[in-house]
Amino acid sequence: MRALIVVFSYHHKNTEAVARVIAKALGADVVAPKDVKPTDLAMYDLVGFGSGIYDAKHHPSVLQLADRLPEAKGKKAFIFSTCGLFAFAVSNRFIRSNHSALREKLLAKGYEVVGEFGCPGFNTNVFLRFFGGINRGRPNAADLERTKAFAEGLAHTRG
Ligand SMILES: Cc1cc2nc3c(=O)[nH]c(=O)nc-3n(C[C@H](O)[C@H](O)[C@H](O)COP(=O)(O)O)c2cc1C
Repeated sequence: MRALIVVFSYHHKNTEAVARVIAKALGADVVAPKDVKPTDLAMYDLVGFGSGIYDAKHHPSVLQLADRLPEAKGKKAFIFSTCGLFAFAVSNRFIRSNHSALREKLLAKGYEVVGEFGCPGFNTNVFLRFFGGINRGRPNAADLERTKAFAEGLAHTRG
């Protein structure tokens, strides 16, 4: 059973921290979108796609990779993200809404989306930096514990 995580993380490496926890739990390889050949994904039983949220979607490099993927009928995928909204407002509904664009693309390729995870991430975009940003220290230890639990749940869906 092989798992791969494709992650783009640049703002504060928030999503990379999440990806590393998932990778450890699944024994997965981690790669950036620019370093993966779309056809290589066929070698994996489970592929995770993640990034920070930019304009209410995943980063364009992840969305563009999804557009270039070959047909993947019956393959399993999961989606994850970190977002810069105030932590108290980060609901499952908000996370799923941010995931919509990527989810649609993966479903259109035939992937079965077996899980979705999101958590707050430190955000110093535009004017926020003048106030020290929001969600400083996120993802924190509790976020990463939830990440681990999510990944352990995924391990049961593999195969
Ligand atoms: C240009 C830009 C646009 C952003 N747009 C959103 C957004 O639409 N919604 C949101 O919740 N967070 C937004 N954020 C915050 C990031 O999603 C958040 O900080 C995320 O954790 C960054 O992940 P990374 O460190 O892995 O790149 C934005 C940040 C930047 C720099």
